[in-house]
Amino acid sequence: MSSVQLTRNQILALVSEANRAPSVHNVQPARFGFTTDDQGNLTVLLYSDQNRRLLAGDPLRHDEGTSLGAAWEGLRIALARQGLMLELLEWLDPGLSPAHPIYADLKQVATGKIFTLPESARATGASSDDLAEFVFKRKAYRGKFKPAIPSQIHGLVESLDAKASLVLNEPSEIKDIARLAGGATSRLSKHLATQIELLQWLRFTPSDKGYYEDGLNAEAMGFPKSVALIAKSALHLSTKPGIFKTGLTGVLIDETPAIKSSSAILILFAPLGADAATRGRILYRSWLEVTRAGLSACPMSVLADDPQTQAALSEMKTSSEPMQVLTVFRIGVSPEPVLPLTVRLQPEKLVTIS
Ligand SMILES: Cc1cc2nc3c(=O)[nH]c(=O)nc-3n(C[C@H](O)[C@H](O)[C@H](O)COP(=O)(O)O)c2cc1C
Repeated sequence: MSSVQLTRNQILALVSEANRAPSVHNVQPARFGFTTDDQGNLTVLLYSDQNRRLLAGDPLRHDEGTSLGAAWEGLRIALARQGLMLELLEWLDPGLSPAHPIYADLKQVATGKIFTLPESARATGASSDDLAEFVFKRKAYRGKFKPAIPSQIHGLVESLDAKASLVLNEPSEIKDIARLAGGATSRLSKHLATQIELLQWLRFTPSDKGYYEDGLNAEAMGFPKSVALIAKSALHLSTKPGIFKTGLTGVLIDETPAIKSSSAILILFAPLGADAATRGRILYRSWLEVTRAGLSACPMSVLADDPQTQAALSEMKTSSEPMQVLTVFRIGVSPEPVLPLTVRLQPEKLVTIS
């Protein structure tokens, strides 16, 4: 193994690919610092942008951590494509970790070293990740699905870790999940602060700040233009948070028809107390497997966040080890064979280089 040097453009391409990883509400908390240590080794530091915290919806930083873990896995995949290896040295809780010396809003999450693999490993392609080709095809699809063919679901089941996943594809099972999700959504929708926070990450029309760079825009949510405009003006006209009590977000984001159209439900489990790097890796790699099977998916975090559904679904775990539900995906075939990718921040905003 030898030390590595990367140009600014190579670093921008790497972080751009790493940031294709999914993040909660597309807040994209991951920032990357590149530096060279005393021995000349290229070191990467992962930070979490605290301006993007979901204080109401994610007070314990569970989804923030999973999103950061997914971005770290994204960086690992991007580096492997270049014949480089990322070794994780330390993973920290951003609630307790030091801030970046210059940017106080960036809290340190991980430190890693980048190595070049020997030429022999690169020549045989042994270093590349077989999920890399799906990074730029994966997308959260929130509309109604077309049915999958059974071999697609079978292929997906075969590709996943049987101890950490369960695929349900009986119509009665899918109906049950739709019912559970409905119950969990109505319990969680009583949390007004979470609803208001979600609305801050919704972008209705291209004139909304961030429409082309983060959050959930009309295209990502599958809102027709007319619905987006009506929703925007309803919110604009409201001077009090009373508008949220009318269930506007519930109407906008009613997942029942999409769940009922799915061909399968994928429940992902993580070892109880698993760190964020592990959770993010399981979530991201499983989602890439879904893409590899020619399927589309959308997470339904509400089923993992609601204590009642979390407990009911945890009972279904397939491993004897203590596990908890990481997330639940609805899965099917999207009507369009190629989906436009969800927007991301420009890579220049993701990186500090010293
Ligand atoms: C921890 C986590 C939780 C998520 N929960 C939900 C969810 O409950 N509902 C949903 O529609 N999308 C959910 N997502 C998907 C993100 O909104 C999505 O990844 C993000 O908007 C980026 O879009 P993309 O995945 O299409 O690139 C979640 C993603 C992560 C990482």
